[in-house]
Amino acid sequence: MKRIGVLTSGGDAPGMNAAIRAVVRKGIFEGLEVVGIKRGYAGLINGEFVDMNLGSVADIIQRGGTILRTARSEEFRTVEGRRRAYANMQEQGIEGLIVIGGDGSFRGAQIFSQEHGVKVIGIPGTIDNDIPCSDYSIGFDTSVNTVVDAINKIRDTATSHERTYVIEVMGRHAGYIALEAGLAGGAESILIPEIPFSIDEIIEKLHRGQKRGKLHSIIVVAEGAASGIEIGKQIKEKTGFDTKVTILGHLQRGGTPTAFDRVLASRMGALAVDLIKAGASGKMIARQHNDLVAVDFDCALSEKRTIDHSVYELAGILAI
Ligand code: F6P
Repeated sequence: MKRIGVLTSGGDAPGMNAAIRAVVRKGIFEGLEVVGIKRGYAGLINGEFVDMNLGSVADIIQRGGTILRTARSEEFRTVEGRRRAYANMQEQGIEGLIVIGGDGSFRGAQIFSQEHGVKVIGIPGTIDNDIPCSDYSIGFDTSVNTVVDAINKIRDTATSHERTYVIEVMGRHAGYIALEAGLAGGAESILIPEIPFSIDEIIEKLHRGQKRGKLHSIIVVAEGAASGIEIGKQIKEKTGFDTKVTILGHLQRGGTPTAFDRVLASRMGALAVDLIKAGASGKMIARQHNDLVAVDFDCALSEKRTIDHSVYELAGILAI
């Protein structure tokens, strides 16, 4: 293996740049040539290649987003799109590919690898933390901290005005961001798609809180569980409480990555290079109990990652 490619795909996540930096620098350290592919699989199909050197990744470890840009490519879902991508890789002399992204990106990588025999290693990068077989994905920790920061700020004004706030957070079909940020932010209720909720129970809790003198309440809603606006409307209608809704949206995907995400990304990037150099393929780097391991794409794609119910129960106990 002499020449490898690296791309970011799907929604961006803080720490992706640290992973690119690790792939480029560890790759060069190992005597490989590293090619950056712009705009994910779309760039692979359209031939957007850039030779990377040590300087290409200077001053990026602290930056959110991805210097390689990212995209969700519809064309790569087609046989013809993947054929063009493979032809470009061959022309460029790229023998292996490191894909930084989420489950959709790995599904594409797996098909591509099976069809054309391309060697591919995946690095989990998504704020949603919804990739099975890995305790963490790059960007999750930063996103949770961003949400906690927002909860702290909202809490200030919520107390002053004695209001109830519903805060809707991202996570697609998963509730990890809501659960961790809700626990860390001291939310009264946390609504996640993995666990059914009852609006009446939430309201009962709000009334209990009011009786014991609570000045404000925070309810964190994962976008996959319900619409924050709808929950806010119901609470207002049923309680008459001064209720506001904040949808945090894409600010959860930006910002400088935390040290945790930078370390995770650096370690994952370096291990991905070791694996691809050794000729491995069809694997994703995963963090399991503090260690980094390589798991099959099948593992990352077949199962659904499960939420830790004890964390959810604890958040409920601490918010009585
Ligand atoms: O997968 C990351 C994520 O931010 C999800 O949490 C969210 O549902 C989705 O991407 C939003 O995607 P887009 O940026 O295309 O609106």
